[in-house]
This record gives sequence, structure tokens and C-alpha cells, in this order.
Amino acid sequence: MLPKSIFVAGHRGMVGSAVCRRLEIEKNVETITRCRADLDLGNAAEVRHFFEQSRPQAVILAAALVGGIHANNAYPVEFMTENLRVELAVIEAAFATGVSRLLFLGSTCIYPRLAPQPISEDQLLTSPLEKTNEAYALAKIVGLKLCEYYRREHGVIYHSAMPTNLYGKNDNYHPANSHVLPALLSRFHAAKESGLEEVVIWGTGSPRREFLYVDDLADALVHLIGLADPPDWVNVGSGVDLTILELAHKIAKTVGYQGKISTDPSKPDGTPRKQTNISLIRSTGWTPKTSLDQGLEETYKAFLSEKLAGTLRTSQNK
Ligand SMILES: NC(=O)c1ccc[n+]([C@@H]2O[C@H](COP(=O)([O-])OP(=O)(O)OC[C@H]3O[C@@H](n4cnc5c(N)ncnc54)[C@H](OP(=O)(O)O)[C@@H]3O)[C@@H](O)[C@H]2O)c1
Repeated sequence: MLPKSIFVAGHRGMVGSAVCRRLEIEKNVETITRCRADLDLGNAAEVRHFFEQSRPQAVILAAALVGGIHANNAYPVEFMTENLRVELAVIEAAFATGVSRLLFLGSTCIYPRLAPQPISEDQLLTSPLEKTNEAYALAKIVGLKLCEYYRREHGVIYHSAMPTNLYGKNDNYHPANSHVLPALLSRFHAAKESGLEEVVIWGTGSPRREFLYVDDLADALVHLIGLADPPDWVNVGSGVDLTILELAHKIAKTVGYQGKISTDPSKPDGTPRKQTNISLIRSTGWTPKTSLDQGLEETYKAFLSEKLAGTLRTSQNK
């Protein structure tokens, strides 16, 4: 059964906004949100005051400092401290004010760089992390463990979801700091518009990655927060991966770009392969619904209308 009121932390982000859209169809659930201007989630005193006033039954913690390889690699201090600040402030205030249910959003970058594929939940902390996003991953591991410890020590159901790479409506399209899929979509769109003959993609193009449509993730999160006894942490993915070069070709096709696509091996590749094992979440009764082709179509439509409306997100996230 779903909680009666849920605070969606980070509701203006890609994940948070998808969760709010998904919760709109749940007639008996009140969704509580606050903008950053009204509540800095990294400020423990402000966060505690907010929880004392609004008393949500549950929390979905989707607020974080998020970015692609470049931003993660260049700003490890910010990625570690900002994320720890938000996690600690929200999780501690939730517990202190009697919130019995909290779902924390991590990421599959918490798993070792060379974890056996597809990556299952038991790979956590078995060998070294990928260096380029180690600070962010460590902060996410702390959040996951803190939820596990609260559950074990105090009996509250604080648990975590580890999504694979996400894409969809309301993504961030900052030219240098965004994730690979929105970065490529935006570049191929610009290349088509300006008639560019060639698009060069970062790295060798050979790393394999998995992508999940964000509305599928939102559906999974609402499913998980309704489970009586959810796993402490669970992967959420599509279960399908492809190379970055294959992704680039798919995006070019979606956007209608017909020029040449080449690679730049002098740029970092990141983890060679990342595919999640989604058996655990499947065993709880959830399964992904949107294919990459369908998701890309929807995402490009959203990109065009966000651009037209002047609402396309291009924040630096640092
Ligand atoms: N995107 C992915 O591919 C991906 C993959 C795996 C996991 N995840 C996880 O999913 C979660 C959400 O990611 P996302 O892609 O939705 O990121 P996003 O679009 O950047 O959204 C994050 C939101 O958090 C808010 N936020 C951050 N710090 C805050 C603070 N101190 N006070 C108030 N609000 C704050 C941001 O507010 P502003 O709008 O004001 O900046 C933003 O709206 C994160 O935990 C991330 O680790 C994402």
C-alpha cells in the first residue's frame, strides 16, 4: 500500500519530476514538494524545520548533484560534499520527525569498475570503483548504507534504488556537464540544424551502457515504496545494453542527422561495460516497459518542445 503523503525531494529534476507525474495518477497520495529557493536540502536546520512543519509519511530522495564524466572528474570535492550534505540532512531529519518510510536514489556507479556483468546487488564493495566518478559513488554508498543502518537499528523502512543511466523528459542538456545520452542528442540536433558534415563522439565508442527511460524508473520507485518488505537496495534498469557508438547511431536516426559519425579515442571512456542485473526487482513484480527506440522518440519530442518553450535545462550543476 502506498503512503498517504510523499515528499519528493528534487522534484524539479529529471527523476523527481517523473515521480511527480507518476504520482498524479495515484488519487489517494498527496505529493509534497519544495523549490530550492524555499528549501536548501543541504541545510540541516532548514530541512529539519521543513519536516517538523510538513510531516510527510514518506520521502523519495531524488535530490542530488548529478553530472557526466567531465563534471564528476573535474569537481570531486563538490560531488562528494554536496551529495553527503543533502543525504545526511534529509535522512536524519526524516528519522528525527517520525518518517517511517524513505526511498533513497543512488546509481549503478556504486558498483566496482570491473564488476562481473550483468552487475548484481551483491557486487557492492567487492573491488575498486571507477576513478572518474569515485567521489559521487562514495557519497551514494554512504547514503545507501545509512538507510540500511537506520532500518537495522531502528526498524524504519529506509531503502534504496540504484538506477542505471537515465534519459527522458526534463533532462539536463548542459554542453559539457550533461550525461552521454542528452549530450549526444543535443549535439546531433545542433549538427542537423547547422548542416554539419561530421560529429565526433568522446572516447572510442566501444564502452557498453544501459539506458532506462525515466518514466519507467518513476514507475519502479512508486512500486518499491509500496512494497511491505523491499530489498535494502535494488538495481533498476532496462536489462539491455549497447555500445556508445551504437547509441550515437540510434540518436542520429531519431534526430534525422545524416552526416558522418566518428570517435575521439584521446578522450576518456569510463567503465568498459555497465549492465545491471535486474532479476531482483523483477522478482518483486516490476518490469521495464519502454524500449530505447520508443524512449528516444519521446525524449526528442520533449527536447524540441522544451526548446521551443524556452524551458530546456542547461544548468551547469556545479
Ligand atoms: N540522470 C541519471 O542518469 C541518473 C542515473 C542514475 C541515478 N540517478 C540519480 O537520480 C537522482 C536524481 O537525478 P536527476 O537526473 O533527476 O538529477 P537532476 O535532474 O539534476 O535533479 C536533481 C535535483 O536535485 C535538486 N537539488 C540538488 N541539490 C539540492 C539542494 N541542496 N537543495 C534543493 N534541491 C537540490 C536540483 O535542484 P535545482 O533544479 O534547483 O538544481 C535538481 O532539481 C540522483 O540521486 C541521481 O544520483 C540519476
